[in-house]
Amino acid sequence: AARARPAAPLGTPVGCAVQASLLDRDAGYRRAILRDCDLVVTEDALKWDRLRPTRGAFDFAEGDAIVRFARDGGLAVRGHALVFHGQVPPWLDTLRSRAEAEAELRKHIATVVGHYRGAITSWDVVNEFTDDAPERGTGLRNTLWRRLIGDGYIEMSLRAAAQADPAAQLLLSDYFLEFEGEHYDSRRAVMLRTVQGLVARGVPLHGVGMQGHLYSDRVVDRAAVARFVAEVRALGLVVVVTELDVIDQTFPADLRQRDELVAQQAFRLLDAIAEGGGADAVLTWGLRDRDSWTRWHKPRPDGLPTRSLPLDDDLKPKPLHEVMQHFRRR
Ligand code: G3I
Repeated sequence: AARARPAAPLGTPVGCAVQASLLDRDAGYRRAILRDCDLVVTEDALKWDRLRPTRGAFDFAEGDAIVRFARDGGLAVRGHALVFHGQVPPWLDTLRSRAEAEAELRKHIATVVGHYRGAITSWDVVNEFTDDAPERGTGLRNTLWRRLIGDGYIEMSLRAAAQADPAAQLLLSDYFLEFEGEHYDSRRAVMLRTVQGLVARGVPLHGVGMQGHLYSDRVVDRAAVARFVAEVRALGLVVVVTELDVIDQTFPADLRQRDELVAQQAFRLLDAIAEGGGADAVLTWGLRDRDSWTRWHKPRPDGLPTRSLPLDDDLKPKPLHEVMQHFRRR
């Protein structure tokens, strides 16, 4: 019953996050991506710690491998993430002044977006910028970039990205925009307030990324999500589901039941988004269960392997695969 017909548009481009190391050694993984996806996103390859372990150089090897694979397979590529407080190299802690931080961030964005100009057509420009106490102050997370540069680091980053590739789609992306409850209402409000301000000031911004990390014990707020999507779209922006998966910690062990519940959670989100006008693209954060970050970072209390993604460990499609391809079907 929970997976009925979607209220609105099918034909959404779908995709997944990919790891360069897996592309390199796993033909089954490559084939599954080519079959199931219209686009891919770099999972870890373009994070600061991978790209810039030392301050002086940029290591584009993994990003280039992903772009090559996608180009050969006719897939589009999203880049993740130009500005993020997670997975940064230790040398960033040596940045002291505002001028130094701003110069480093500008250089990073110009170099990375410039390198992939025309090849990566959509970017998570700033990732996870809303605070975990969203009702406090401006609701912006006090990241190293905000501490050094101030709230204006978001606008600065978007302008720098647009300058490096005027044709690229530029997003702000965040988590916890999906659920029922006051905390999540506040996060949606911070996101909306922030993008409204940017749009009003004419800052180049094209959309909002809803990460879509869903949880077995949190309820997707259909009405709030539909409203949020409609409000974003009314600003002339798109919504992209950037990191969809389901953390299945409290779902029953039984595989049939668990896989169905995972699919239902995702359907509930995508259906609500469709009701609000639809997403520009939907990407899962990985394609195969055993490659999911949830295996390591969100283990089940009973020790059974997590099943967060469309394909099982042997690349066999699960109900979530059906949901994804359903929204994709033309
Ligand atoms: O796969 C290896 C495994 O072979 C090894 O035995 C194990 C032991 O440490 O590590 C495994 O790799 C870890 C990987 O997660 C597993 O998915 C890496 O050490 C770990 O660094 C890596 O973390 C990444 C995480 O960001 C870091 O916080 C994940 O790859 C990546 O999917 C995740 O992505 C983030 C987004 O960037 C932002 N939004 C949330 C999302 C999930 O946390």
